[in-house]
Amino acid sequence: MEIYEALTKDHDQVKTLLEELVELQEHDEYRFILIEEIRNLLVPHARAEESVFYNTLRAIKTDQELVLHGYQEHLEAETLLRTLQVMDRFDLAWRPLAAKLQAAVLQHVAQEESVFFSAAREVFSAAEAEAMGSAFEKLKPKIAEEGLVKSTVDMVINMLPPRLSDKLRSLGGGEVRH
Ligand SMILES: [Fe+2]
Ligand SMILES: [Fe+2]
Repeated sequence: MEIYEALTKDHDQVKTLLEELVELQEHDEYRFILIEEIRNLLVPHARAEESVFYNTLRAIKTDQELVLHGYQEHLEAETLLRTLQVMDRFDLAWRPLAAKLQAAVLQHVAQEESVFFSAAREVFSAAEAEAMGSAFEKLKPKIAEEGLVKSTVDMVINMLPPRLSDKLRSLGGGEVRH
């Protein structure tokens, strides 16, 4: 499976869960289960996407701005999710926050599936896209196992310029994921 299809499959799953979340009644505590599910899907997706897709794109293309913008949106979505998760169950402010998360994720994945994908299609062959797809699928469950703390460290490393992030990885700050 090419990387584009693998990423889109996850995007569709997250969109469905977000749709369910924003449609819940104010007091429905099922939201905590949904938020957890979204987080368990989105965080490994984002980390594997950064490692396999963003970092490769970044190493080849000169458009650093685009990719950096993508990392920032991951950070934003993960912060919103974390806030939703720790919110008191009587706190009804969760609804506008969930709507904000949904809007942010929709905008983010739409941009990935348009701008990012077309930038990638210009530089990667079908065989390369296929190899990135399997690397992505292999990496995701590993990231999920490692847990969220390690994932946050990896996000910070991923956001650094490649020269610095490679250095940190070689010092043991994370494994090389190319
Ligand atoms: Fe994505
Ligand atoms: Fe993303």
